[in-house]
Amino acid sequence: MKENKSILDLQNFNLHINEHHILKDIDISFYRKKVTAIMGPSGCGKSTLIRSMNRLNDLIPGVKFGGQMHLYKKNLLEMNPILVRRKVGMVFQRPNPFPTMSIYDNVLAGYYLNGIKLSKQEKEQIVMDSLQKAALWDEVKDNLHRKGTFLSGGQQQRLCIARALAMNPKILLLDEPTSALDPKATAKIEELIIELKTKVTIIMVTHNIGQASRISDLTAFLYLGELIEYDRTETIFTNQKHTRTEEYLTRKFG
Ligand SMILES: Nc1ncnc2c1ncn2[C@@H]1O[C@H](COP(=O)(O)OP(=O)(O)OP(=O)(O)O)[C@@H](O)[C@H]1O
Ligand SMILES: [Mg+2]
Repeated sequence: MKENKSILDLQNFNLHINEHHILKDIDISFYRKKVTAIMGPSGCGKSTLIRSMNRLNDLIPGVKFGGQMHLYKKNLLEMNPILVRRKVGMVFQRPNPFPTMSIYDNVLAGYYLNGIKLSKQEKEQIVMDSLQKAALWDEVKDNLHRKGTFLSGGQQQRLCIARALAMNPKILLLDEPTSALDPKATAKIEELIIELKTKVTIIMVTHNIGQASRISDLTAFLYLGELIEYDRTETIFTNQKHTRTEEYLTRKFG
């Protein structure tokens, strides 16, 4: 598979939790300004894999990881996790705006948590830019000081995307970002992801085969902690090489 430059390269990446070998010898590169979908049956390690990319697994008791993971040319596994999380943002399955904070403060939450001081003017600029990038500005611009939890599920998820984008990440990780949303809110987020890839590299876990085929450029298929197949999405969907991939895509399991 020939692509443009990679931004994140995993080599021989392994992860154990106590005696369980959860991710096995993963070799994969993610490419700049592409959307990569990660698919595979429940429990195969998709969330664990993307959580490794912003060091969210560090705190799991009994976790051990090995191998290499380079962000540009730096080993992400040896970087300060706080710095990693600024460069690699994450949005989860359930929208999780901070319930006590306004929309405005939610967007700036990453700065507050990192103790970064901003002028009022800088704050206003970041809030506006991030909400515009997340296609939420027009809907909330007159209510920035209301609580984020007043928004609909789809709006809350776009607020979480704005919160991640506010830190100017190089990579945005999305773990089943639409599985808690209705079809209309899902379509809006899918449109947004296609727009965002001009600005940020996106790695997205999804169980939704239609979604992967609509919006991803590349698709990785994981099975029992192993990377079975990785290719352009079109190839994975029309000309997959492994029977496991085919069986999954035709819903024989998963
Ligand atoms: N904190 C943990 N402690 C022990 N085992 C864990 C922990 N987190 C995940 N696992 C195990 O790691 C494996 C992979 O889990 P993971 O959540 O990454 O799967 P997934 O592919 O995201 O599944 P799903 O599609 O259901 O979200 C599972 O067997 C799970 O039981
Ligand atoms: Mg998961």
